[in-house]
Amino acid sequence: PVPSLKELYLPYFDIGAAVNLRTMESQKELLAAHYNSLTAENDMKFERIHPQEGVYAWEAADRIADFAASNGMKLRGHTLVWHNQTPDWVFEGEGGAPASRDTLLARMKEHITAVVSRYKGRVYGWDVVNEAVEDQSGDRLRQSKWLELAGEDFIANAFRFAHEADPEAVLFYNDYNECNPEKRDHIIRLVQSLQNQGVPIHGIGLQGHWNLHGPTIGMIREAFERYAELGLQLQITELDISVFDQADRRTGLTAPSAEMIERQAERYEQIFGLFREFKEVLTAVTFWGAADDYTWLNDFPVRGRRNWPFVFDANHQPKPAFWKIANGLE
Ligand code: G3I
Repeated sequence: PVPSLKELYLPYFDIGAAVNLRTMESQKELLAAHYNSLTAENDMKFERIHPQEGVYAWEAADRIADFAASNGMKLRGHTLVWHNQTPDWVFEGEGGAPASRDTLLARMKEHITAVVSRYKGRVYGWDVVNEAVEDQSGDRLRQSKWLELAGEDFIANAFRFAHEADPEAVLFYNDYNECNPEKRDHIIRLVQSLQNQGVPIHGIGLQGHWNLHGPTIGMIREAFERYAELGLQLQITELDISVFDQADRRTGLTAPSAEMIERQAERYEQIFGLFREFKEVLTAVTFWGAADDYTWLNDFPVRGRRNWPFVFDANHQPKPAFWKIANGLE
C-alpha cells in the first residue's frame, strides 16, 4: 500500500499542489489522497479573475475553492500583484495615455479588495506580490508597469490593501532564485524595509523551481537560514525538480532515463531531509503540479521538450523519489 504523503508529513508541514481545472479533474484521487493544500496555477491571477474593468470571472477559482473545501484541504491564493498575466487595461489611462499613479493604485485596491474579500475564510494566505525583484540585481526592483507607473511603494500598498480586506490572512512575498545570494539579499532588504514601515507581511515564499544539478543543499540551507532571520514563516510555494541539468538542451525524450529518475530521487531525499530540519519555520511545501502527466515545464525553457519533475509518475504511481521522501521519517 502507498502511504499518504500528507499524513506522513502532518508533524512537519502541509503538502500542497498547484492545479488547473483540467488536472483537478484528472488527478482528483491523487490530490485527495496525498495533498492537504491547493494553489490555483493560473485561475486566481489578474487576467483570469478580473479580465476587464468591472468584470470579474470567479467561476474557475470558485471551483478550485469548492474542491479544496470538499476535500478538507487548505487553499493558498496566488497571486494579487505580478508583472505577468495582468491585463493591459489595468495600466491604461485616458485616451491611450498610461494610467496615473492614483488611477493605478485605486485599481489595485479595488482588485485586491474584491478578490481577497471573496475568498476570506477560504484562502488562508496570499502571495500578495510576486517576483518584484530583478534577477541580475544590482539593487533594482524588476522593471514593470507597476513600478513605472505607481512607484516603489506599490509593494507596501498591496500588502496594506490585502490586510484591510482580510486581517486574518497570512501575507507572503513570493519569488524565485532564492539561492542567488545577490537577489536574495535584495529581497531581504525589501522585506526589512516593509517591516520597518509597519507593513503587514507575514511570510516569504521560496518558489523552488529547481533541477537535478542545483541549487545545492548548502545553498538551499543558506536561503532558509537567511530568510528565517527575518522572523517570518517560510513556505516552498512552487516546487518542481526538472530531470534535466541546466546545460541539457536535449529534446525528443519520450521518457526519463533510469539515471535521471535515480538522481532525481536522491535530490528529493536530500531536499526533503533539509525541509524537515526547518519544520519550525517552514509551514508548507507546495509542488507546482501533482504528477508527471502535466507540468508547466513541458516546453520550458526548451520548446518541444517534456519533463517529469514530480514524485508521482504520469500514471499517478509513486516514483523512487516518493519512496525516498516517504521512508525513514522519525
Ligand atoms: O489559457 C490560454 C489558452 O486559452 C491559449 O489557447 C493558450 C495558447 O498559448 O494559452 C493559454 O494560456 C497559457 C496558460 O499558462 C494556461 O496554460 C499561457 O499562454 C501561459 O503563458 C501560461 O503559463 C503559466 C505561467 O505561469 C505564465 O507566466 C503557467 O501555466 C504557470 O504554471 C506559470 O506559473 C508561474 C507562477 O505563477 C509564478 N512563478 C513561476 C511559475 C512558472 O512559470
